[in-house]
Amino acid sequence: MKIHILTLFPSLFEPFLRESIVGNAVTRGLIDVRLVNFRDFAPGPHRVVDDRPFGGGPGMVLKPEPIVDAVEDVLAKRSDKNARSVKLILLTPQGQPFDQQRAVSLADEEELLLLCGRYEGFDERIREVLPWDEVSIGDYVLSGGEVAAMCLVESVVRLIPGALGHEDSAWDDSFSHNRLEFPQYTRPRTFRDRSVPEILLSGDHKKIEEWRAEMSLRRTERRRPDLKQKD
Ligand code: 6GU
Repeated sequence: MKIHILTLFPSLFEPFLRESIVGNAVTRGLIDVRLVNFRDFAPGPHRVVDDRPFGGGPGMVLKPEPIVDAVEDVLAKRSDKNARSVKLILLTPQGQPFDQQRAVSLADEEELLLLCGRYEGFDERIREVLPWDEVSIGDYVLSGGEVAAMCLVESVVRLIPGALGHEDSAWDDSFSHNRLEFPQYTRPRTFRDRSVPEILLSGDHKKIEEWRAEMSLRRTERRRPDLKQKD
């Protein structure tokens, strides 16, 4: 999968792309990430990417030309010139809430382009001239889309076949079936007088599976009744 990330702060992504599961996916060629600083597409010696909002008000607005030029440059350099085959994602608190279902659907794409904003927002015409999907990672405000883009990349990459050690380890994840994960234990068997549930030591795999399903269900009902309703 090819992932283009348009940002004013490309260096924020560098350590993220080097480490752990994502770093491994990069090294092994499962993903090819291209960082684009759209400031490089702004004219003049000062490479200005933002300006004051028409109509007044606080903050700055991202100008349309550098961003649209940067996106069109990415699209023009591809061998397949069909813009529809690149999924364009605009990261904004005004977007559709990101969830596991969208991560699964994005993991099927061949090429993603993620646009990270800063400041008060995007000139509305950026939305009008390109076919974006707008995505938010939750109901709170970040100063920019970079951390949101990392969340999206991390959740999508682990769904690409071969990205995780075990092919099935993404299957049991919380949210995979609208359930939170069951409690897990490892050694030691006793820690500060607390023992591991006996059933997990029993070797009875059918019983263990039933116990885990029950714990998953109970935890979901208590903590996230909204999730159960998605069934
Ligand atoms: Cl995608 N961007 C920004 N700036 N803030 C957010 C967000 C995105 N999702 C939640 N808050």
